[in-house]
Amino acid sequence: MDKILVTGGLGFIGSHTVVELQQEGFEVVIIDNLSNSSEDVVDRIESITGIAAVFEKLDLRDKSLVHSFFRKHKDIKGVIHFAASKAVGESVEKPLHYYENNITTLVYLLQELEKLDAANFIFSSSCTVYGQADELPITETAPVKPAESPYGNTKQIGEEIIKDVCKVSNKLKAIVLRYFNPIGAHESAKIGELPIGVPQNLVPYITQTGIGLREQLSVFGGDYPTEDGTCIRDYIHVVDLAKAHVVALQRLLNNSNKETFEVFNLGTGKGSSVLEAIQSFEKVSGVKLNYKIVGRREGDVTAAYAETTKANKELGWKTKFSLDDAMLSAWKWEQNIRNK
Ligand code: UFG
Repeated sequence: MDKILVTGGLGFIGSHTVVELQQEGFEVVIIDNLSNSSEDVVDRIESITGIAAVFEKLDLRDKSLVHSFFRKHKDIKGVIHFAASKAVGESVEKPLHYYENNITTLVYLLQELEKLDAANFIFSSSCTVYGQADELPITETAPVKPAESPYGNTKQIGEEIIKDVCKVSNKLKAIVLRYFNPIGAHESAKIGELPIGVPQNLVPYITQTGIGLREQLSVFGGDYPTEDGTCIRDYIHVVDLAKAHVVALQRLLNNSNKETFEVFNLGTGKGSSVLEAIQSFEKVSGVKLNYKIVGRREGDVTAAYAETTKANKELGWKTKFSLDDAMLSAWKWEQNIRNK
């Protein structure tokens, strides 16, 4: 049973990935600093899989703690690195926090991985690196555009750092996964997205409005050059996304990777507008959503959806869930956490 470290393993995507890893027979060690997650997720994960994951509260910014952790766990075979700050707006306000939290920590981790006999590394990146792509769907070879925010910049710089290290390292192999828009929750409704305060992302805002926690959803922009005037995104069910991490890791562990540094888009390949997302919610929940079209949000691109051929062929992975499936799971999760 290979031992895998999942950083940020109590977060939204991290927790779903831990479940999938355990269900595939991996031994999982989680580290998380609980800055945007809660410790009871450890028990929630166990209640799904019946397997206790080892959890250590650890802040990756503390280099000596990272070092001691790896001394204790010399048998780690792979690392899936989720731990990072991810709020676009906040990153504009606090750039140094983002560079320290997302970049310094990556460097510390890679320094430790270099000391292992072999290191397999999966990195959480984002379709934000493409900006407004010139062609849709977006392929992995589409140019990386100047970042719109310090958050986006940390993903670009992170990718570059890993690529540079892979070039010279005879130990490190890495896969960068560029996520489109992860949404939804586990079918058990025991784990899901838990935004602190007012949600910044569309789907938690929709479900919180649906349940009555928010008065009204603002739809940012109705005058985009799209069919219904609202932005288009590729919404991917978090469980599909989590499964992709497992197959990417297996690719590295089995040495089936073609290069020591590879990049994959993770999306469904299907674009949906904000209004379509709202319609999907209304359909699966039976709840009429109070929403209003307002001005555009700064930094939003008009449309982004993935070309998925590379991930489908090379990873042998395909999404199974539809937008409706994902929306229903998000709604069940929202109802569950509000005890409704
Ligand atoms: N939207 C609204 N109202 C809201 C929230 C969002 O209309 O209250 C719209 C946005 O304008 C956008 C769409 O819903 O058109 C999706 O917005 P999200 O904030 O859910 O997602 P983004 O596509 O903006 O951001 C996501 C990730 C980021 C990542 C980015 C890359 O959350 O981390 O994709 O494009 F950087």
